[in-house]
Amino acid sequence: MTGAGHPPRGATRVPGDKSVSHRALILAALASGTSVIDNLGPGRDVFATRRALESLGVTIDNLAGGAVRVTGRGGALIEPASPIDCLNSGTTMRLLTGLLAGAGVRATLTGDASLSRRPMERVALPLRALGADVRTHDGRPPVEIRSGATRPAPIVLDVASAQVKSAVLLAGLFLTGETSVREPAASRDHTERFFDYTGIPLSRAGGALAVTGPARPRPFTVTVPGDPSSAAFVAAVAALVPGGDVTIRDVLANRSRLGFFDALARMGAIVEIGETRPFGPEDVADIRVRAASLSGIEIAGELALAALDELPLLALVAAFAAGATAIRDAGELRHKESDRVETTAAMIRALGGSVQTRPDGLDIGGGGLAGNGRVRTHGDHRIALCGQVAAACVPGVEIDDPSVAGVSYPDFADAIARLRRNGETDPIGAN
Ligand code: S3P
Repeated sequence: MTGAGHPPRGATRVPGDKSVSHRALILAALASGTSVIDNLGPGRDVFATRRALESLGVTIDNLAGGAVRVTGRGGALIEPASPIDCLNSGTTMRLLTGLLAGAGVRATLTGDASLSRRPMERVALPLRALGADVRTHDGRPPVEIRSGATRPAPIVLDVASAQVKSAVLLAGLFLTGETSVREPAASRDHTERFFDYTGIPLSRAGGALAVTGPARPRPFTVTVPGDPSSAAFVAAVAALVPGGDVTIRDVLANRSRLGFFDALARMGAIVEIGETRPFGPEDVADIRVRAASLSGIEIAGELALAALDELPLLALVAAFAAGATAIRDAGELRHKESDRVETTAAMIRALGGSVQTRPDGLDIGGGGLAGNGRVRTHGDHRIALCGQVAAACVPGVEIDDPSVAGVSYPDFADAIARLRRNGETDPIGAN
């Protein structure tokens, strides 16, 4: 890798946000007319949603310049000819289960080995309460939608999950009357923002969200902001390699997604989140991260939820920090693309660090990693990307299947190589 050994410096962008991309595609598919989405996430997860919608009769064209044009069917989706393969994407499977249960489209949703192990009763249960016949296999995929939702209802979730909340809200668009959903803590709110943006009335009273159907989004134009979950990997390299100084432009600046940056700053990295600017349904900001010596912290409660997908990366960063770090209130990590409590701990151990697992988190010893070990991804893109961060910091890091990173951030290694070439040619920074 050219530039290896030099600090990453300069400015960059990251791919379009994965969560926003899924929702943009789905809402465009539900609108009557043509929507244009620019900077759609390039990973396989977003591709899975696109292909699924195409199999339901929605036309999605690539435009010159990289945007896509979606010709929505106003919710008149067709029954797919064969099972819909959601690949590795839990968001695709859960959001589509809600959409199809609402639309009353019979379908079977399948996924790869990792997705086939993930819990699906959490989405099937509330949809059954709306009258849909949704089946799982021992609580896991394949998910079968046998018949659609018939009645609105107040739904109370026992787990904070943006995917499940979104599935209920999407189903509610097809029902006559008020469907509401309440979760124990506030998960990411991209669906709610998209409802507002596309003219779907959504009320937020007493901690519950309520949509009154039938309702459909207006066609829209949107540019997807940079993914803070991808930006986190760039920021981690900037924070860990001495002399690192990187600005990431136009990052989605949604408080429910910025926990990683708050935690990194608390560890001692110099993190500046610039002025936020409105950007379609969301806000964006430039984020500058500079290396400094890091110390261990405690990550729990709201911070753990706002850093949910970045907790494996925070654990890795913590392994390089002075002193111990405790991650708590993160039992949901066990239900992600892998059991991230176990796969994160195994990664840190393989690279010479000390770590202990707990039912709801990890204790990381800190003090640095030796490297010279093999990271096993278990089909989990965030673990593959963590392995690449470790490889940028210490020698001898092997990753058993680096291609897994393509689920969310296919070009991460190239982005880091470019920033390190800046560090080679411009030792005083390129901002
Ligand atoms: C997502 C929600 C989160 C997150 C996932 C994407 C979404 O899961 O981990 O990567 O786009 O709605 P939860 O459903 O547990 O909130």
